Amino acid sequence: RTVITVAPAALGFTAVPKNKNDVVTVPDGYSVKVMTRLGDPIAAGVAAYANDGTDTNFAQRIGDHGDALHFFGLSAAGARDDASSTRGLLVQNHENINIQYLHPNGPTNASTGPRPEAEALKEIEAHGVSVAEYKDAGGRNWSYVQDSTFNRRITPNTPMAFSGPARGSALLRTVFSTDGTQGRGTINNCANGISGWATNLTCEENWAGYFRRDDSGAGADNAQRTDRELTALRRYGVTSNTGSYAWSSASTSNPVFRRWDARATVGGTATTDYRNEPNQLGWVVEIDPYDPASTPRKRTALGRFGHEGACFGRLADGKKVAVYMGDDSRGEYLYKFVSSANWAPADAQAANRLAMGDKYLDAGTLYVARFNANGSGQWLPLVFDQVPNRAATGSAPAYAFADQADILVNTRLAADAVGATPMDRPEWTAVNPVNGEVYLTLTNNSASVRPLNGTDAANPRHYNDPKNGTASYGNPNGHIIRLREAGDDTAATTFTWDIYLFAADSIDADPTNVNISGLTADNDLSSPDGLWFSRTENAAGKVHPVLWIQTDDGAFTDRTNNQMLAAIPGTVGDGGPVTITNVGQNGSATQATIAGAKATAASLRRFLIGPVQCEITGIDSTPDGRTLFVGIQHPGEEGTPAAPSSHWPASQAGATPATTRPRSAVVAVTKNDGGIIAL
Ligand code: FEO
Ligand code: CA
Ligand code: CA
Ligand code: CA
Repeated sequence: RTVITVAPAALGFTAVPKNKNDVVTVPDGYSVKVMTRLGDPIAAGVAAYANDGTDTNFAQRIGDHGDALHFFGLSAAGARDDASSTRGLLVQNHENINIQYLHPNGPTNASTGPRPEAEALKEIEAHGVSVAEYKDAGGRNWSYVQDSTFNRRITPNTPMAFSGPARGSALLRTVFSTDGTQGRGTINNCANGISGWATNLTCEENWAGYFRRDDSGAGADNAQRTDRELTALRRYGVTSNTGSYAWSSASTSNPVFRRWDARATVGGTATTDYRNEPNQLGWVVEIDPYDPASTPRKRTALGRFGHEGACFGRLADGKKVAVYMGDDSRGEYLYKFVSSANWAPADAQAANRLAMGDKYLDAGTLYVARFNANGSGQWLPLVFDQVPNRAATGSAPAYAFADQADILVNTRLAADAVGATPMDRPEWTAVNPVNGEVYLTLTNNSASVRPLNGTDAANPRHYNDPKNGTASYGNPNGHIIRLREAGDDTAATTFTWDIYLFAADSIDADPTNVNISGLTADNDLSSPDGLWFSRTENAAGKVHPVLWIQTDDGAFTDRTNNQMLAAIPGTVGDGGPVTITNVGQNGSATQATIAGAKATAASLRRFLIGPVQCEITGIDSTPDGRTLFVGIQHPGEEGTPAAPSSHWPASQAGATPATTRPRSAVVAVTKNDGGIIAL
């Protein structure tokens, strides 16, 4: 990447008022074009999507619940071209499904089974990742190329390879891979990461719930498990008595379905039953988008948890490569991976991209963050022989780690053992390309996980959202924390931090202890999730970077559909100290004084509102910054096949029949004068 000169940045659009309309709303002077949608065919000869529940073959269609996305440039000749703003490969995660719209009259026996095989296969294949070629016919007139030879679907059934220190571990041995080296597919792919050598990292987030592993009742397999296995399975939440969508009920013989039943059988072993199947998931997976025949690699050195994203730190010649990763569950942690190898800039253009992943992502040190009350922090190494036993908790006995593979498969246990700071649900990470500071969205937390006496400086708020009676004590609207590495070194083991933004409803929030950032009707928000810095190339000699914030919120949807805001970032420590007083339901109080920034109309402004019942997630631009691609996930998620609660994206063009089903989709946002978005 080229070094840019930073001039004063200014947002150049008028804030979009909150609304609950069933369209994507953007500022005056901007336009929206719908791009790839759920079900769109991405192979020659595949029929257009009927969108009535009869469609099949999702292994050749765009998946559901589009999440993180990235535009990988292509030259006119069809080669990798990082500078291209007119042709490229849009790589998008497909996190989950709106199951009711995938079948003519909704699913059959979705909660307990038995499930018809054809229904379950469709649902499985609607998960994963898509690669679709996008092309500008001129003047930012974008469309996708159905028959591009680059197009690809990666699903929960796509063969993958384990890589890094846990490859071949006994914990990874399954019926599918008796030597623990092969992976079967990827699921619940949430946010992403983009390497300096132009690969896509996809992150497996809420995979645990897909497995059946009765933890109680007649079918419980607990008697077949060791205490160590039970400690790990319960820590990761592999406890369901059916598994999401009950896929394992579709067949006891076909492993595509059977694998989702992780119960150990009497007398079974790791390679004859499916007991280790959950260990196949929870990883960061590297994909080469330019080579549709390549086998994705599961990078075990980055640990196994509920991976949200994997944002790279700035690359510098001769310095370590860092990857910042949130574990999205209430009370989970922030992680950093630091490579053993030093960055060699020539590797950015290496022809064998996955070999660069082998070099930088298979050997290194995984750390977890501790945030101290005085604004400092530590990266605690998760290295065998340095991690103590995890103490006994509840019914779980103490856990002693066997080797580094054990630490990488059971990363949450190791992070518990070293005393990391539990956070208010770590979602995306983003790195400011100008100064290297790391931003992390903490989307929200509840009073049950973070009670009044559980607050700390990095997770300092405990209050009630007055709209919801007393039901929402905790941190219902979330915040964004940021950190700066000591010496601006990606390999640092200490950092400083502050809170960049406290999300709040501007209308009824206490300005001293809740709406601390001073939000107004033009920039109030709840539950920040997606987070992305505009490409440095956007600068075009001008300004930058802009920080984009996307929301995934239930607490604020009485006021507005989910939204995306643009922000001008500052630096850690540029906000004054704020003192927060928290009061619990019982009236007692805690107090914290921390560094926290104020937002202003100039520094934070609402840019986009999505349609009904969507989440805004996934964002990238063309390198010239003149087309912004945004993911609109699960519109109408609460509706039924007979009465869909959104008709988007059909509704973007005007009135639609009341039975038109909603579809997740990517939109291309452009400025009518052809300018750089947001400036
Ligand atoms: Fe898939 Fe944490 O959002
Ligand atoms: Ca997310
Ligand atoms: Ca979320
Ligand atoms: Ca979602």
